[in-house]
Amino acid sequence: MKAKEIANKIYYVGVNDRSKSLFENLWPLPHGVSYNSYLIMDEKATLVDTVDASFSDIYLQRLSDILGDRPLEYLIVNHMEPDHSGSIRQLRRQYPGMKIVGNGKTFGMLDGFYGIKDGLHEVKDGDSLPIGSRSLFFHTAPMVHWPEVMFTYDAVSKVLFSADAFGTYGTLDGGIIDDELLLDGFWDEMERYYSNIVGKYGSPVQKAINKVSSLDIQMICSTHGPVWKRYINDAVSVYERMSRYEGKSGATIVYGSMYGHTEQMAEAVATSLVEHGIKNIAMHNASRSHSSYILRDVFKYRGLIVGSPTYSNQLFPEIESLLMKVETRDVKNRLFGIFGTFTWAGAAVKKLEEYALRMKWETVGSAVEQKQGMTADTYNRCLELGKLMAQKLNDN
Ligand code: FEO
Repeated sequence: MKAKEIANKIYYVGVNDRSKSLFENLWPLPHGVSYNSYLIMDEKATLVDTVDASFSDIYLQRLSDILGDRPLEYLIVNHMEPDHSGSIRQLRRQYPGMKIVGNGKTFGMLDGFYGIKDGLHEVKDGDSLPIGSRSLFFHTAPMVHWPEVMFTYDAVSKVLFSADAFGTYGTLDGGIIDDELLLDGFWDEMERYYSNIVGKYGSPVQKAINKVSSLDIQMICSTHGPVWKRYINDAVSVYERMSRYEGKSGATIVYGSMYGHTEQMAEAVATSLVEHGIKNIAMHNASRSHSSYILRDVFKYRGLIVGSPTYSNQLFPEIESLLMKVETRDVKNRLFGIFGTFTWAGAAVKKLEEYALRMKWETVGSAVEQKQGMTADTYNRCLELGKLMAQKLNDN
């Protein structure tokens, strides 16, 4: 297959994965994912990142088609997670003289994952590497989202190779660069990708964005999703907003419900939100919606309203599991609403109140607790919760 030249002597050599069901064996991939890799055909042929091991064969063939008899001089390793480093061992076999460029943390992982200890070229933050008509500059970006991550900047073509930053789920169906593709679905998938994969690391993402903000960037080449050229500002602003945990005016309602009683409370709260002017509402039955999508909406909206039955004197297990994922990501600054049910002894509401304190979130109104089935009083208190949340969201 012919590789596409996306900028001066820079070729896209990535692959699309439409087979894998779960990214990291955790997160659904209904629209697949791409593993992006780039080959710079300057005087010294230089590859930036590789692809998942399951695509090594076709990947190596593609590189060989472009390189012909030329040696591959350098492999820049911006990120060691195996969806990008998975082909390194086979690449080294095909190009034994290839020097691997990374930082000290990269090389510890390179040895640990692949037993590779030699043929290394170590770089530090701010270092550069001449490869012919251009030099590549290295900017470490620790914890975006692994400790060894770095960005590589080509100052001649003004291209930033950004590892996972500004990446998204979704395959590249025919096109590579943003203005060749229908982007509608990518923005939502970018938010889901960010919340699932990068979500815990808001502060490192902010630091990395600030660090490269003075560079003249005409193109961003991430390791997943479209190459950003025309829509650079849009892609960066999604990461910027999400790294600040800034939620839009709207609410995510998540509930667990075994027999429908907690669900009726959720319906009442949602009705009241709409009656008081909130249209952005994401409703999730935690037993049905995958946490990947709930996390996306928790990041998207400022309001979060959670309802749980008491289950064996604990939270409903699916709610507990979700809340743990939200806590792991250290989601900040949410307006929190609470409702819950029990049959003979209540525990869920108390645990949700404790959770709000731990997360340092503002609890809106009073928690609504229901014993067994819905009563007129409980119904009215759910409406009141929705009204107070809507007022808070409208005020912010
Ligand atoms: Fe796409 Fe963090 O690997």
